Amino acid sequence: MCGIVAYIGKRQAYPIIVKGLQRLEYRGYDSAGVALLHQGQMNIYKKAGKVTDLIKFAEGKELNGNIGMGHTRWATHGEPNDRNAHPHWSESTIFSIIHNGIIENYAALKEALKSKGHTFTSDTDTEVLIHFIEDIYYAEKVSLEEAVRLALGEIVGAYAIVILSKQDPHKLIAARRASPIVVGVGTDEFFVASDASPIVEYTKNVVYLNDNEIALIDNGKLTVKTIENQVKTPYIQELELQLEAIEKGGYDHFMLKEIYEQPRSIWDSMRGRLDAKTGHLRMGGIAEFEGKFANAKRIIICACGTSWHAGLVAEYLLEDLCRIPVEVEYASEFRYRNPVLFEDDVVIAISQSGETADTLAAIELAKQKGATIFGVCNVVGASIPRATHAGAYTHAGPEIGVASTKAFTAQVAVLTLIALQIAQKKGTITETRFRTLLTELEAIPAKVEAVLKQNDAIKELAARYVDSNNALYLGRGYGFPVALEGALKLKEISYIHAEGYPAAEMKHGPIALIDDAMPVVVIATKGANFEKVVSNIQEVKARKGRIIAIVTEGDKEVRTMADHVIEIPETDDILVPLVSVIPLQLFSYHIAVMRGCNVDQPRNLAKSVTVE
Ligand code: G6P
Repeated sequence: MCGIVAYIGKRQAYPIIVKGLQRLEYRGYDSAGVALLHQGQMNIYKKAGKVTDLIKFAEGKELNGNIGMGHTRWATHGEPNDRNAHPHWSESTIFSIIHNGIIENYAALKEALKSKGHTFTSDTDTEVLIHFIEDIYYAEKVSLEEAVRLALGEIVGAYAIVILSKQDPHKLIAARRASPIVVGVGTDEFFVASDASPIVEYTKNVVYLNDNEIALIDNGKLTVKTIENQVKTPYIQELELQLEAIEKGGYDHFMLKEIYEQPRSIWDSMRGRLDAKTGHLRMGGIAEFEGKFANAKRIIICACGTSWHAGLVAEYLLEDLCRIPVEVEYASEFRYRNPVLFEDDVVIAISQSGETADTLAAIELAKQKGATIFGVCNVVGASIPRATHAGAYTHAGPEIGVASTKAFTAQVAVLTLIALQIAQKKGTITETRFRTLLTELEAIPAKVEAVLKQNDAIKELAARYVDSNNALYLGRGYGFPVALEGALKLKEISYIHAEGYPAAEMKHGPIALIDDAMPVVVIATKGANFEKVVSNIQEVKARKGRIIAIVTEGDKEVRTMADHVIEIPETDDILVPLVSVIPLQLFSYHIAVMRGCNVDQPRNLAKSVTVE
C-alpha cells in the first residue's frame, strides 16, 4: 500500500528518495510523487503510473535540494491520476504533505474549509488535511508543528504523514496513527519511511514512532512528542534487516526468489525452537502463556488473505492435536460484528506484515474484551507484534513479492510448533507421535527442496494452461486450505479466475462449471481423506474436467485418472500443506510470467494493507 520516504541532511535528497520509492514499490501503488526544497522553493513532481514514469517526468527539471519527500500512492479517495498523486499543497502552497491511511472525517472538514474560501485541486482526503493544518497555523498563529499537533487532535482515521514547509527548509515533520513510520538516524541526517527498506543501506539506527506520536526533525535534531503534547525520548533501535534480503539476488522476480528461499525460511522459522533428537520443542513466545493456551475454552484466529489460509491450517492442527475448539475469522468481519469474546479466549492474530489494519483493529477489540492475544508475524517490530500480549516471529525474512509465499509456509511451520507445544502441555498427544512429528518437521526443508527441483516440469505444465480463463482448486482436510491458497496465488498474479473449494463441496455448485477446458487442481496426497479425494477426482473426470493432481511420490492410483500429476515427497498428513503448496506457487508464477503479468506487483494489490 502507499509508501513514504523522506530525507533531510547534507546529501542530495532526490536520488535517495527515488531509490527509496523503488524499494517500496513492492507494497503496491498506482502513482508516485516527490517534493524537494531548494533555495526557498518547493518543487513538486507527481505522476500516475510507476516510479520510472515519475523519473522520466522529472528529467531535466530542478531536482536539487537536501530535504525532500516522496510517496507512492495506492488510491483510496479519488482515482489514480496525476492530480490525486501526493504530495499535496496547502492553500497558500507554503506547506506540502504526503500521507498513508484514510482521514475518515475529511468530508466534514472539507466543507468547513470550503466555506472559509479554501479551494481543492484533488479528490483526496490528504489535501484536506494539509489545508486544515494551514488553517489552524494562520488562525492560531502557532508554529507548524503545533498546528500539526492541534489538527491531528481533530482527525478521525489513520495516518502516517510527512510535512514540509517552504518557510522552514531545515524542518521536517512526521506523525503516525495506525500506519507505520520509521525514522532512520544517521550522522547529521535523517530518513523517514513507511518501512525500513529504503533506510537500511544508509543507517541501522531507527526509531519506530508509536501511534499518536509526532516526530520533529529541526536543524539536525529529532524530537518526539505525542498529540497530547507529551515529550517522549526517542528509543533508537538497531535494524536487523540486511540489504541483500531486499534485493533480487539473480532471480527474475522477488516472488521466484522467495519461493526458492523456502527450504531455508522454513528452517529459519523452526531454528532453535525444536530438536527432534532430544524431543525438545520450545516456543519462547508462548512459554509464559502456555497455561492460558492449554486452558483456553476456545481459540479464535484472526487474519486476512494468505495469513487467513495459514489460520485455517492452524484450526485443523489445533483441533486435531490439542482438542481445543478453534474459529478462524476474517479480521474485517470479526471487528464489526460485535463478536462474543470471553476472558479465557485466546486470540491468535496472524500477519506477515504486522500492519494489516483490519487485523490490528481485531486485536484491539479482543483486547478490550479481555482476551489474551498472541501474534504470529514476520516483520519484526511492526504494529501487530507490538500490540499483542505475546507472540512468535516467523523469521522468514523480508517478503517483497506481493503474493505471499515463504511467509505462508513459515506461518504454517510456526503454528504447527505452537500446536505441538500446547498438545504436549495438555497431554493430548502421545510422546511417540510428538517425536515422529518433530522428526518429520525437520525433514520438511529437504522435501521442499525436492519439489523445487521439479520447476522445469511445472513450468511446462503451466505453458499448457496459460490461456485458461478459470481454474478450480480442490482439497479435503489439510489439503483444503492449500486449495484456497493455490487458487488465491493464481488469481492474484495471473488474473485468471480461480476458486478453491473443499473437494466434496464441489458438487454443490462449482461442478456446474466443469467442462473439458477447465483445469482442476486437486491435492490428492496419501492420507486420511485419500480415497474420498479419489472419488471427487472421478466426479470431475466424468465431466471431462482436466485434472492436475498433487500426489505423493510413488502414487499409482491417481496417476491413472489425472491428466497430469506432480509428485511430492511423502510426509505426515498434517504437514502436507508445507510441501503441497510449493508446486502451486510455482505453477501460478510461471503462468503469470507467460501471460506477461507484473508478478511482483500485481495490479490493484498491496503488500501491506494499512487501510481497512
Ligand atoms: C494483502 C497481501 C496478501 C496478504 C494480506 C494479509 O492482501 O496482498 O498477500 O496475505 O494482505 O497481509 P498480512 O501482512 O496481514 O499477512
